[in-house]
Amino acid sequence: MQTDILNLFRRQGGEYLSGEEISRQLHVSRTTIWKHIRTLKQQGYDIEAHTRKGYRLRQITDRLLPAEIAAGLQTRLLAAQTERIHHFNTVESTNNVAKKMAFDGCPAGTVIVSEEQGGGRGRLSRGWFSPNGKGIWMSVILRPPFAPMEAPKCTLMAAVAVCRGIEKSVGVSCGIKWPNDILWQGKKMVGILTEMSAEMDAINHVVIGIGINVNIDADDFPEEIRPLATSLSLVTGGQVARLELLIAVLQELEDLYGRVLSDGFMPVLDEWRSRSATLGQKVDVYGPDRTFNGEAVDIDEDGALLVKTAAGMIRVMAGDVSIRSKMLAEPQ
Ligand code: BTN
Repeated sequence: MQTDILNLFRRQGGEYLSGEEISRQLHVSRTTIWKHIRTLKQQGYDIEAHTRKGYRLRQITDRLLPAEIAAGLQTRLLAAQTERIHHFNTVESTNNVAKKMAFDGCPAGTVIVSEEQGGGRGRLSRGWFSPNGKGIWMSVILRPPFAPMEAPKCTLMAAVAVCRGIEKSVGVSCGIKWPNDILWQGKKMVGILTEMSAEMDAINHVVIGIGINVNIDADDFPEEIRPLATSLSLVTGGQVARLELLIAVLQELEDLYGRVLSDGFMPVLDEWRSRSATLGQKVDVYGPDRTFNGEAVDIDEDGALLVKTAAGMIRVMAGDVSIRSKMLAEPQ
């Protein structure tokens, strides 16, 4: 019902619509309409009520509300119904909420989005700066029919989807640093944290957490990450519509996931390679048990990075990579 009311408002383009007209079109009483409008207001919709003229939606919200997201999507899995999108004003971490929902049996395609995170988490036990209303902090739950060791594919797929979404919606081209950072001119714009629950031979669920720095000013970033981080508004020089961007990313993720399920992973891998900021670079690799350097030459079909070193080719499944500056990359 709330979706229907919002659709009527959208068609009205900011003009008034009488309660009588709404109840006639939706075949419910004016009291019912009034109750739903009260709920919509509580959700954050800016609806104005006038005794004679009725109601109007004053402005389209920039909050990432489920009905707004669902209205912009043409998906069959991801956020396919409004009920599959869970919006919060604040949570500790959308990945924590998603993991709990996934364990409790929520359907694949469920999306959790929050305006703010109090304890946003990054890879390798780092934090993730997630200020109120200035980014996209979301987690997507999938139940892919992959073997557990193939789960890193989800991260690569998400990275490609985010790059495509940003390009289509904002017109900014980013590069991917293995395994999961999205950079603009060497500064971090997006982080992806994939977490999985699996049995020996099957995945129960994968939570893909995506954090996009959208409208964050340079001064907003904590001092220690300021030199390393950027945001879409800093790059474009203007405010960026979060809702459109979120919709574009989810749409791309759905399309890519469908493609992976039908045609396999190769097309995604090829696109990841073409968007990579890592391949062909001299890198320092900080693995779980050792640190070394070499040249990043490729990724294989499991998402592992292949690094050519003096001791031969090393396949890196986990860890962190830093790209050496040209000067440091010279033979020493
Ligand atoms: C990284 O680059 O280290 C990964 C950062 C991932 C951040 C996102 S924001 C939404 C989701 N919830 C979290 O707590 N983390 C991820």
